[in-house]
Amino acid sequence: MELNERDKFTGHMTTGHEWNGIKELNSPVPRVVWLFLGVFATFGIIWTLLMPSWPGVSGYFRGLLGVDHRVAVEQTISEAAAEKAAWLDRIASEDFDAIGADGELMAVVRDTGKALFADNCAACHSAGGTGNAGYPSIAAAPMMWGEDPETIAETIRVGINSTHPETRYAQMLAFGRDGMLGRAEIDAVVAYVETLSDPAIAEAQPEPVATGERLFADNCAGCHGVDAKGMVETGAPDLTDPFWTYGGDRRSIRTSVYGGRQGVMPSWEARFSPAEIKLLALYVLDLREGRQ
Ligand code: HEC
Ligand code: HEC
Repeated sequence: MELNERDKFTGHMTTGHEWNGIKELNSPVPRVVWLFLGVFATFGIIWTLLMPSWPGVSGYFRGLLGVDHRVAVEQTISEAAAEKAAWLDRIASEDFDAIGADGELMAVVRDTGKALFADNCAACHSAGGTGNAGYPSIAAAPMMWGEDPETIAETIRVGINSTHPETRYAQMLAFGRDGMLGRAEIDAVVAYVETLSDPAIAEAQPEPVATGERLFADNCAGCHGVDAKGMVETGAPDLTDPFWTYGGDRRSIRTSVYGGRQGVMPSWEARFSPAEIKLLALYVLDLREGRQ
């Protein structure tokens, strides 16, 4: 290795490195790099001239093109808000039948309703509205308070056993704890209630079922109906269908009859506008019709 050696063909100095007779020349960086950097710099300068860029003392340089993303975003938001307000106005002023028949409005109901339901109702009633232990199915079970949209909207507005002054009120009495029925009577009426949704049980224990039927007529029919199919006047549920808020096995039914039940559905009047409440009622009906 020889330092300070000049290559006789190119005139460049060598770096002093040599591999099997091949020497490395100490030649300058190729020009293409400067060209490359030059393009970047030119592009950068032009871009900062055209677009909002350099910070200054009293604001930033706005750019020669006058592009302002904030204005563009604000405009998009205010356009969307105006559009939403227009939809909500129509939902507020039109009746349920008219809204239901309007495909465009129903598309808004499905879209907005889905989001409102997911954020506010799904925690108790589950995402599809099929209910959870202690929270009724509002997608499939017969409605305790009625199935028409006005009734559903009213339930959403005032709630059930809620703090709203006009709340719907419903209570399943504590027949055992409050001493209205003795132990044997409770066993009998529970055995009867079990048969209502599962008739096979009646054959297994005919005697308590007959007593239970009489006890039901005397103590329960006033709220649940003579046929046990529930009554919208009392908000008492149908006991003959396969849907249970608190459970349809013997133990759960016994707990309901012994200790009573009083579920709380919050009032949503303070949270939603009347149009949003209507929209949610329509969304619930849509869930019931399996369109969600
Ligand atoms: C904190 C839990 C909770 C939340 C949140 C909740 N609900 Fe309820 N909801 C209940 C309970 C509990 C009942 C049944 C009350 C009863 O019968 O004693 C009920 C009942 C209902 C009913 C009446 C069902 C019937 O059979 O008539 C409707 C309709 C309803 N809810 C809709 C909604 C909607 C829509 C939302 C969201 C805006 C919502 N609920 C949010 C707990 C809740
Ligand atoms: C004062 C009215 C009233 C009377 C009387 C009454 N119930 Fe109820 N019952 C209700 C209401 C309202 C509910 C719903 C409570 C809730 O959802 O929080 C209910 C709920 C129930 C449930 C739970 C249903 C479920 O989905 O889990 C059972 C079981 C039941 N009642 C059985 C009976 C039996 C048996 C009797 C008679 C011994 C009776 N009820 C008498 C009003 C009444």
